[in-house]
Amino acid sequence: ALPTSIKLFEMAPRDGLQNEPGTLVPTATKIELIERLANAGIRHIEAASFVSPKWVPQMGDADEVMRGIQRQHGVVYSALTPNLKGLEGALEAGIEEVAVFGAASEAFSQKNINCSIAESLARFEPVLARAHEAGVRVRGYVSCVLGCPYEGYIAPEKVAEVAKALFEMGCYEISLGDTVGVGTPLAAKRMIEATRQQVPIEKLAAHFHDTYGMAIANLYAVMEEGVSVIDAATAGLGGCPYAKGASGNVATEDVLYLAEGLGIETGINLQAVIDTGYWITQQLGRKPSAKVALARGCS
Ligand code: HMG
Ligand code: MG
Repeated sequence: ALPTSIKLFEMAPRDGLQNEPGTLVPTATKIELIERLANAGIRHIEAASFVSPKWVPQMGDADEVMRGIQRQHGVVYSALTPNLKGLEGALEAGIEEVAVFGAASEAFSQKNINCSIAESLARFEPVLARAHEAGVRVRGYVSCVLGCPYEGYIAPEKVAEVAKALFEMGCYEISLGDTVGVGTPLAAKRMIEATRQQVPIEKLAAHFHDTYGMAIANLYAVMEEGVSVIDAATAGLGGCPYAKGASGNVATEDVLYLAEGLGIETGINLQAVIDTGYWITQQLGRKPSAKVALARGCS
């Protein structure tokens, strides 16, 4: 059965901007984006990434972004922290939630975080311990859940195994990433069916990229399985620097329109998100890729 409400986890400031080619997006623009998203009613925003600036230059100002945002009561601003160095930076910036990111593909793990899956899990243990000691919640990502740019097919059982390891380690929620956006609905369903045997369904999030235009269909398929946490990026921004050809996350605008049509509660103002999508893409010199934004237009 479909969920009666969904939690939308906004990705535009992090997943959306991390791969932006060309000049660095100004810190002030990132801060304004985050504040506009919060004003639209979004309650979970991945705001930055405390990773190596040599690996991901666009996220090099994570500290300034986290310190610069005018935080709203009831909004959680989180960031990626792949190791203790990243976590310490995030804690100093006053973070309340972080995320570690692993993969269901060995090759992708090496390209993305320079270590094997097993090494990554061992590296996350002290990150979780330190975060929990500081009262900070930790989300866990599994990448390449519906395919890998280097390995191709990924078995659902492998996804379930890595998700289980992250959950048992103490991640409060496991976000399942179709990093390259190659999935189709039946494959997405099978992946959830395997993973829900290891991690309760209400602890699973869908993080789908829209490279092949399947993200909305895949989301509907996993929502029927009971998934109620959805990662999305306003304007459909984004891509992963270590997944060539991957396009943005499913657009927040499109997810909200889908939810509205299904009578599912989100608490988010669709038109305000559309306007924010037009504003940020104008800063970047293009148009939103969200179909709903193009259909409705800016107010
Ligand atoms: P490494 O080179 O193995 O790390 O990289 P190291 O520990 O050997 O350190 C090398 C250098 O990096 C040192 O500096 C460290 O201080 C520095 P040097 O002495 O050479 O000057 N360093 C750091 N600097 C800042 N912040 C840090 C940090 N850690 C080390 N946290 C590392 C390992 C994980 C750091 C690197 O591979 C990295 O930063 N990777 C980030 C990759 C990334 O951000 N990818 C995109 C996000 S994941 C994604 O998009 C998928 C997702 O959306 C889900 C989906 O779609 O599937 C989440
Ligand atoms: Mg992603």
